[in-house]
Amino acid sequence: MDELTVQDPQPLATQASRVPFPQGRGCPYHPPAGYAPLRDSVPLGKVTLYDGRSAWAVTGHALARELLTDPRLSCDRTRPGFPAPSRQFAEVRSQGVPLISVDDPEHHAQRRLLIPHFTLQRSASMRPRIERIVDRLLDAMEQQGPPAELISSFALPMPSMVICALLGVPYDDHEFFETCAQRLLSGQTVDEVAGARKELEEYMGELIDRKRREPGDGLLDDLMRPDAPAEPPSRDALIALSGMLLAAGHETTANMISLGTFTLLNHPGQLAALRAKKTSMDVVVEELLRYLSVPNGMLRVAVEDIEVADHTIRAGEGVVFVTSLINRDGSVFTRPDTLDGERSARHHLAFGFGVHQCLGQNLARLELEVALRGLFERFPDLRLAVPAEEIRSKPAIATVEGLLELPVAW
Ligand code: HEM
Repeated sequence: MDELTVQDPQPLATQASRVPFPQGRGCPYHPPAGYAPLRDSVPLGKVTLYDGRSAWAVTGHALARELLTDPRLSCDRTRPGFPAPSRQFAEVRSQGVPLISVDDPEHHAQRRLLIPHFTLQRSASMRPRIERIVDRLLDAMEQQGPPAELISSFALPMPSMVICALLGVPYDDHEFFETCAQRLLSGQTVDEVAGARKELEEYMGELIDRKRREPGDGLLDDLMRPDAPAEPPSRDALIALSGMLLAAGHETTANMISLGTFTLLNHPGQLAALRAKKTSMDVVVEELLRYLSVPNGMLRVAVEDIEVADHTIRAGEGVVFVTSLINRDGSVFTRPDTLDGERSARHHLAFGFGVHQCLGQNLARLELEVALRGLFERFPDLRLAVPAEEIRSKPAIATVEGLLELPVAW
């Protein structure tokens, strides 16, 4: 459906008390101070979106788990009332995204195809390749010498190279793939993003044709194998799947690496405990996922009336899951605003919950662990190259939190 034909039945927000969403972070690792009224109305509040429309804001952990498993909430972005956090999102929301914007039963059929490629075992088998990618990027940083901008030299290329390896994109093409990916995810205008998408789709189409003639080693090759357990997806479906995996797994992981590094550098006690092996990297990664809540706003629309927490979410009303507040719900996490590398934070909702829970979470955990361990081991004196106050968060146009730049020295 064309975006312009999507009619939204919701009235404009009228209550002055409604909180604008999303808002930029002041401190890069804390929820914006402007969300304070939402913390007062846990587990459910109201927000105003960029276009003046209102949406429900889920902020309580138990309610989030309940609603994320409720089939009366839909992921279909083309449904009237689906909440748009920004104009950029609204402009592209009519383009369906495999899995992410699809409801069951179609969603289940698509997810079933990919599940075998993201098991714990399959992800663990990628460890040597991920270690090589991390080593290569750190070698290049070391050779170039300090200072370095960590996002462009390490945090962004690393997950993009891992997705290349996962899909079976030849190493020689990774620079092209990465440049396109960056323009696609961080492009400043709709035209720039559309151009990058077209180039990437053309490239993936040619790659798929090549792989059909000469099968290689990767997820795309496996899905196309004539003896694969499921009917091989069409060329267009494979292109769409590749784009979705790139979008889902690139920026989230990259922002976790850069924001995670910044946060540890700002918590020297936690970093020292990690270096002294008093805490372990996998536990710290879990706590960073909770504390940072990089994907900060899962979006849904109600398809039926839902009675919850003394309120009725009416059919056609938008629902935003404010992950940064859900993950700091004091009834679930003690001292929720403290970064604590010794706590067991695994029940955070940074990977979502329910049928759409992150398919790549095993891989993401592994990438974060290898990247952060590699970085702090290679540069034991890693430090910010500018005062911490000068490090700026991304503007509030997306629901993925991150930093604009991270200059470091060693
Ligand atoms: C730290 C890194 C990551 C974080 C924090 C993250 C977070 C999330 C979240 C919150 C969702 C659920 C969205 C929703 O319910 O609306 C999701 C879905 C998804 N993620 Fe991740 N993700 C990460 C990395 C990855 C990676 C590396 C991949 C694969 C390469 C990946 C693939 C997916 C896919 C395919 C989905 C859609 C699942 C579905 O709809 O069934 N993610 N992710």
